[in-house]
Amino acid sequence: MKALTLLAAFVIIGALPFMVALQGFSRRSRPRSWRNTGQVSHMILAKAARLRLFGKHPAGFYLRLNRRIWEIIPANVRNSYLIRAYGAWLQNLVRLVETRRQYFGTFFFRNRPALELMRRLADEKAKGSTLRIAVLACSIGAEVYSILWTIRLARPDLRVLMCAVDISKEILNFAETGIYAPDTCELVGCPLFERLTVHEKEKMFDWEGDQARVKPWLREGITWQLGDASSPELIHVLGPQDIVVASTFLCHMEPLVAENCLRNIAGLVDRGGYLFVSGVDLEVRAKVAHELGWQPIPELLEQIHDGDPDLREGWPLTWWGLEPLNHSRRDWRLRYAAAFQINTRNSIRAPAHS
Ligand SMILES: C[S@@+](CC[C@H](N)C(=O)[O-])C[C@H]1O[C@@H](n2cnc3c(N)ncnc32)[C@H](O)[C@@H]1O
Repeated sequence: MKALTLLAAFVIIGALPFMVALQGFSRRSRPRSWRNTGQVSHMILAKAARLRLFGKHPAGFYLRLNRRIWEIIPANVRNSYLIRAYGAWLQNLVRLVETRRQYFGTFFFRNRPALELMRRLADEKAKGSTLRIAVLACSIGAEVYSILWTIRLARPDLRVLMCAVDISKEILNFAETGIYAPDTCELVGCPLFERLTVHEKEKMFDWEGDQARVKPWLREGITWQLGDASSPELIHVLGPQDIVVASTFLCHMEPLVAENCLRNIAGLVDRGGYLFVSGVDLEVRAKVAHELGWQPIPELLEQIHDGDPDLREGWPLTWWGLEPLNHSRRDWRLRYAAAFQINTRNSIRAPAHS
């Protein structure tokens, strides 16, 4: 009963922007070519998002209201088909209303299942061989050190060559220094150490009061590279990689920009190598993966999808939020995989149409 009341509230509130927007669409103004209902509803939504009443955006008010309501919906109700569909609709609205921008936010051990998969892939390497990894958009280095910790502990015999890239010089210098203090969390806007165990905190860092310095053995073999992941020059600077990691920055780009960037990133992966790409609009990733024939890695797929609570809890009311995995979609493996094997170097060069 309570769930039904909530649902009714959602439907009524949800109908408002549609109704307001539809008033602006006379029958005559609708092009005949609108046969695709998805396109129609997107245009209605876009109109609702842009609407101004007395100098204010009703969509902004509507989203604030929904934020409150969403928080009180019980988890089992949120998982129902109707509420998930409503959530998807809400996130489309968020993406239309809000202007995307980049963040520095990061965590040590951000996504443990993804780290575990990297460990398993590294385990396939021959004894004493070299493993080349590029971490793009590395922010202050938490992801880089987490990957090195995971792989070096498991395979001390490997020669791991890590290349860490970011577009911000300031943040890259910070990452290279590898010293983290309580005010670092303010710099990146995230509780950096939140996902570390006490044991990991002890073993990864040398502590001076509340200041943590990454241990020297973890800082070896890293090249810190100022660079733009969208730049076609990057392959000449880095060379082909066995594993490329691109996390949580493509979602902060507009979809077409992200798509072009992702195609460029794929060009860094050596034949048969692996690409980890998360924190990106699912439509963008699935489109590029499909067109370039990437093979989704089934191992730990669901766990990786749910592995970063920050992304999952951000759905549907942030543009970077990650929708719940939906097994009933025919394309669910391609849509929700965040790790892929890239087989052919010929197909990864095709540019997106701009
Ligand atoms: C939200 S942080 C992500 C950090 C880390 N990858 C993670 O997942 O925890 C985004 C980072 O992307 C960097 N960035 C944004 N656009 C970039 C680009 N085109 N090339 C390289 N780095 C970029 C930003 O400077 C920032 O440090």
